[in-house]
Amino acid sequence: MAEDLQLATGSKTDQYRSLLPQIRALVDGEPDRTANLANIVAALKQQFGWLWVGFYLVKDGELVVGPFQGPVACTRISKGRGVCGTSWLQARSLVVPDVEVFPGHIACSSLSRSEIVVPVFDNGEVVGVLDADSSEPGEFDEEDRHWLEALVADWAAWGK
Ligand code: SME
Repeated sequence: MAEDLQLATGSKTDQYRSLLPQIRALVDGEPDRTANLANIVAALKQQFGWLWVGFYLVKDGELVVGPFQGPVACTRISKGRGVCGTSWLQARSLVVPDVEVFPGHIACSSLSRSEIVVPVFDNGEVVGVLDADSSEPGEFDEEDRHWLEALVADWAAWGK
């Protein structure tokens, strides 16, 4: 495969519609999950330019930071804490237009203004979350939720 990402312009849907098949091609045939997660967050960062995007993975009852792009972040998050821990606890995506008004939001970067967290399921169990932060308020909406949930639905194809 070519490693160059074709960056799309246009609406959010146009951008996700262009990006998701490229991500599938990028990870196709690669059995190393860490390698795939690293490329997936790089592709999201390149296309959307968000402040921070990465995976937190459930390990021994906590979320531990995995592959990400952006400023250094908190390493571990307990279940029920912050947006990530709440998404894990409630097993649902959370769109946070204004992080300042989310009770218990964990400010990894003072530049973050809005956030989306999408849980990753394996056999019905949450095994991690995909977290994206923006320096713009109200960056994320239901459209992002839809497409990012579609993206992480491919988890089983991302190796071990
Ligand atoms: N803001 C997140 C913490 C992770 S960082 O944003 C990368 C939270 O409240 O869970």
